[in-house]
Order: sequence, then C-alpha cells, then structure tokens
Amino acid sequence: MAKLIAGNWKMYKTPSEAKTWFQDLVKELPSTANAALMVPFTALPYAAEILEGYAAWGAQDVSVHVEGAYTGEISAKMLADLGCSYCLVGHSERRTYHGESDSLVAQKALRLQEVGITPIVCVGEPLEVREAGKQVKYTLEQLAKSTQGLDRFVVAYEPVWAIGTGKTASSEDANAMHQALKETLPGGTAVLYGGSVNPGNASSLFAESYIDGGLVGGASLKIADYLQLLAAAVG
Ligand code: PGA
Repeated sequence: MAKLIAGNWKMYKTPSEAKTWFQDLVKELPSTANAALMVPFTALPYAAEILEGYAAWGAQDVSVHVEGAYTGEISAKMLADLGCSYCLVGHSERRTYHGESDSLVAQKALRLQEVGITPIVCVGEPLEVREAGKQVKYTLEQLAKSTQGLDRFVVAYEPVWAIGTGKTASSEDANAMHQALKETLPGGTAVLYGGSVNPGNASSLFAESYIDGGLVGGASLKIADYLQLLAAAVG
C-alpha cells in the first residue's frame, strides 16, 4: 500500500471550484494512490459525491461539542454523515489563530473517535524550540497531551517553521523525529510529515522508513503537483 498523502486545502477553493477539481482528479488518479483530502466544510458534499471509491475526504476542524446551541459550529456527527474518514485537529494555524490548547485538541479528537472518524492530530515545534534543540521533548509532550484518552488516530508532525515557508526539515531530521514519536505511540499508529512538502522533496521524505506519508498544504491545491506527491508515495 502506498503511503498516505493527505491534502490540507485550508481556506481555499469555493464549492464550485472544488467540484471541478474533484471531477478532474478522479479522471487521472492511479489506483495505487492512497489519497485523502481535508477540504473546507462547504466542499464536503461534493467530495462525498465524487471521490467515493477513489480517495478519502475529511474536514480541517470540528466542534468540541456534540450538539446544541453553538452558532457557527460543525459537529462530528455532521462530518460522519458526509462520509468523512478523517478530520484534522490541532493544526498549528488553529492553535495560533484560535488559541486552541492541547486539551481542547484532545477533546475534539474524542468527538471524532466517538463517531468513527479518524482524527489526524497535528503537532510540531516552533522555530525557537528547534533552535534550542528541544524539539523532541516539546513535540512528545504536545502529542501526549493532545491525544489523551484516544485509542486510534493518525499523527501529523509539522514543524511550525516549515509550514507554508518553503523550508523543510531534512529527511534525516524528520525521520529521527518520527522515530522518537513512534516509539511512544501504540504500534501501527501512522505519523505523517508536513511542512512545505512539494514534488521536489517528496521522494526523499517518503523514502524514510518512519515517515508514513504527508500532510500537504500548498502542493495539494494543484492536481499536477498532488499527483506527483501521490506517485512519490507509492515508492
Ligand atoms: P504547506 O502546509 O504544505 O503549505 O507547508 C502544510 C500544512 O499546513 O498542513
């Protein structure tokens, strides 16, 4: 099985743009690909209609509440009804811009687990922590707190300084971090690498034994780039 390439579209593409993109993707998607797309909530109905049998899909956030008077929120049950297999939690942009704490992230992941959606729990150190050489300790602590009470989940290790910056950890550094994370995780837990993954660096990252795939922002927005990443993950 190829390594998983999860796209993170962030706040890009209208529903109509997403619909056309999905239709174009499935025409070209090789059967060997292991693809998942984390898209805006508004694109999910089209994902469910078009990607079934080709790729998995999911959301980028979920409410911590089960249901109720929470204006503007989207529940895990709503995502399950739209056929989501995965959902991101704790992306660094949500931690930074929306003040999400590790315990909130863990609670959100539990809501997903309760409805059978696999949470993709995002962790990773900021630049000052990396420069101080404390990235392993920092990330392990963040991961332990962000997955409290969870049984089944995927981890995305995304060094904050590498997200959207064009800088990536070297394959060797990323692999060493993944090894450290995997040694503390239940056996079989996948750890994806994220942060400026692109067609130029994908092959060397995905060749590493502890890197189980990628979480990809910018390079998941163009079909040609995304297809190259999927091909690099077949090995
Ligand atoms: P990037 O984003 O690939 O554009 O760096 C990754 C992410 O934020 O998940």
